[in-house]
Amino acid sequence: MGDSGPTIAETLDEVSNEDAPWDYFDSDSYFWHNYGHLRADDKQIIDIVADFFVHCFDRDRPRNLANAIDVGSGTNLYPAMTMLPFASRVTLFERSPANRQWLIDALNEPQGSWDEFWKAVAAGRPTYQRIRKPLEVLAMRAWVTKGNVFALGADDKYDLGTMFFVAESITTRDDEFRRATLNFVDSLKPGSPFAAAFMCRSEGYFVGSTFFPAHSIDITDVEMCLADIARISQIEKVASEDLRAGYSGMIVATGWKR
Ligand SMILES: C[S@@+](CC[C@H](N)C(=O)[O-])C[C@H]1O[C@@H](n2cnc3c(N)ncnc32)[C@H](O)[C@@H]1O
Repeated sequence: MGDSGPTIAETLDEVSNEDAPWDYFDSDSYFWHNYGHLRADDKQIIDIVADFFVHCFDRDRPRNLANAIDVGSGTNLYPAMTMLPFASRVTLFERSPANRQWLIDALNEPQGSWDEFWKAVAAGRPTYQRIRKPLEVLAMRAWVTKGNVFALGADDKYDLGTMFFVAESITTRDDEFRRATLNFVDSLKPGSPFAAAFMCRSEGYFVGSTFFPAHSIDITDVEMCLADIARISQIEKVASEDLRAGYSGMIVATGWKR
């Protein structure tokens, strides 16, 4: 509960994406809690995703640099980092004005922890090591954009995409979890690679003193949701228990839009 009594998310059984206070997302609090330093769970996700993208792109070079998208970027730059060697532009597609401003500021003046994340992305991967000043390159290629995942989709315009901890962490509704996941994949051109991460069995989460909704899902929900629209490369559960109460690990999925 927040300082000023229960929030809408705590008082309603069902919380739609529209009901949650995205305009008041405490970006700094979320950043320091989640990305103030590199955690073992994020390191494991980075290894899976960076290896997958290297596998996808290094086998059929030369090829044009991709038009990439990261959906619901929040205060997380590492999904965009994993796409950096392969993309001429990375759209950071975000609903919350607070997070969009945070992203603009962080790209101008990145927090020190992002060096640690880049080291993990580049370790043992020459494709990434070729980028000497990753945060400067990211600032040049990133495009912070106002957007709603529920309006994303049919255009089929991106060649590469990531969406981390969004579809299950923006609503309690199963239909919205599915629609967000499908819209993300559907925004890619056929055959394009993607990576998506999810909280497993999340009961919702505080950012600062504000509670945000989540839909409790497991690996089979991700599999079933992606089956019709994607060719799946890997879906893996990643152990994680000390981030906060009320979840049971993370799930990472990689694949290609059909
Ligand atoms: C749990 S945070 C995840 C942030 C980040 N991707 C990460 O890995 O930590 C959920 C993010 O989704 C954004 N979001 C909420 N509803 C959205 C919508 N309808 N469309 C796009 N982004 C949305 C929130 O503002 C927030 O940045």
